[in-house]
Amino acid sequence: MTLKHSKVLSARFDKENSQALAGYREDGGYETFLSVIKQKQPDEVIDIVKRSGLHGRGGAGFSTGTKWSFVPKQTDKPIYLCVNGDESEPGTFKDRQVLEFDPHQLLEGVGITCFAVRAKVCYVYLRVEFAKGIRAVQHAIDEAYAAGLFGQDIDGSGFSLDVHLHTGAGAYICGEETSLLNSIEGARPYPRNKPPFPAVEGLWGCPTVINNVETIANVPHILKHGAEWHAGLGHPEDPGSRLWCVSGHVAKPGWFELETGYPLQELIDGPCGGIRGGKQLKAIIPGGSSSKVLLPDEVRKVTMDTPGIRALGSSLGSAGIIVLDEDTDMVDACLNLMKFYAHESCGQCTPCREGTPWIVKILQRFMDGEGKASDLDLLLDLAENIEGRTVCALADGAMWPLTSIVIKFRHEFEAKIAANQPVGVA
Ligand SMILES: Cc1cc2nc3c(=O)[nH]c(=O)nc-3n(C[C@H](O)[C@H](O)[C@H](O)COP(=O)(O)O)c2cc1C
Ligand code: SF4
Repeated sequence: MTLKHSKVLSARFDKENSQALAGYREDGGYETFLSVIKQKQPDEVIDIVKRSGLHGRGGAGFSTGTKWSFVPKQTDKPIYLCVNGDESEPGTFKDRQVLEFDPHQLLEGVGITCFAVRAKVCYVYLRVEFAKGIRAVQHAIDEAYAAGLFGQDIDGSGFSLDVHLHTGAGAYICGEETSLLNSIEGARPYPRNKPPFPAVEGLWGCPTVINNVETIANVPHILKHGAEWHAGLGHPEDPGSRLWCVSGHVAKPGWFELETGYPLQELIDGPCGGIRGGKQLKAIIPGGSSSKVLLPDEVRKVTMDTPGIRALGSSLGSAGIIVLDEDTDMVDACLNLMKFYAHESCGQCTPCREGTPWIVKILQRFMDGEGKASDLDLLLDLAENIEGRTVCALADGAMWPLTSIVIKFRHEFEAKIAANQPVGVA
């Protein structure tokens, strides 16, 4: 395996006017889409994407081609594609780059994906705070219609497609795929119970594929260069090139496109310029905030791919890498994260609705000098009773950083308890 600073998704980001259709087409844009809809069968496209090894970039990392193959082949109902551009995971800002700098790359992926899953309508769901991305994508959709790339009987192929942009209203939960569907339907965005899975019963009860922006942006490249090309990028069991987002205490935070399999420590020391102010690393949360924290010893040996991170009990999630230096108060950091989850809980399930604010109260006690040794067991007990007992994975995602911080940084909680004890009492 060779380690590379790939330029696949970000290849055009630096070009002047990279958002414009004219430049995209000069670079060969939409040629793959037009040849796919004229020369391939939908199942052939699904097979190529399956063999490419592409896994979803939205968090769960499910095989994209396999997900597409779950859409019923025979159905009287319309089939929909929903592109998840809610990008609400803390520490994650990769989809935003695609939306703002190369929206036609995404839209070409939309066209090919819809052809593959036999969808004739796509909703691109963007978080409302992405004002620049929303403008760029809407302009790109308008350009694509004007050029006859979307609409009826595209380029005489017989394939028709309508693409709509839909904005959310800024809630983390709307990034959860079934909550997103309710949001598009105009309903309260509560996540739905699964099964039925959206591929069978999704938007308005019809078969629906939901994929992340970065996932879909990969599709034109895979169809252009082939399944084997993609399968050969990075780690063989989790191939591809990813937009890694690094935030927190590094000298140069930002996004970096690298193939999977890259050593995490090298990313921190190289492109990110090391820990800010020459400090030592204390911890990394590797997959957006909803993943288990890694210690410096683990960071030194891990490669950035699903098998590597999983072997350490954590997950790659949305590839949002949050770096914490030696001065970080881990109890305070944990409290900060748990406030987020408590605030964003949709309130549908009791363990999540009641449990996350309870956890906040306990952590706040530690910060106020009132933490007790029994609180540590209570936190772990609460986590055990929340994880796996809710409708959606928001609660699981909240428990992973919590339990890993309580277990790996127990000494920081204990130091706070010790500091509460009266000293010098004879
Ligand atoms: C609370 C919560 C928030 C989520 N937010 C996002 C998000 O902002 N963007 C995203 O693509 N997926 C998000 N997901 C994951 C989606 O439910 C879904 O797995 C994903 O969009 C599927 O796309 P993929 O297969 O291309 O990864 C979230 C999941 C949960 C539980
Ligand atoms: S786990 Fe939390 S966010 Fe998810 S459905 Fe239940 S209450 Fe809502």
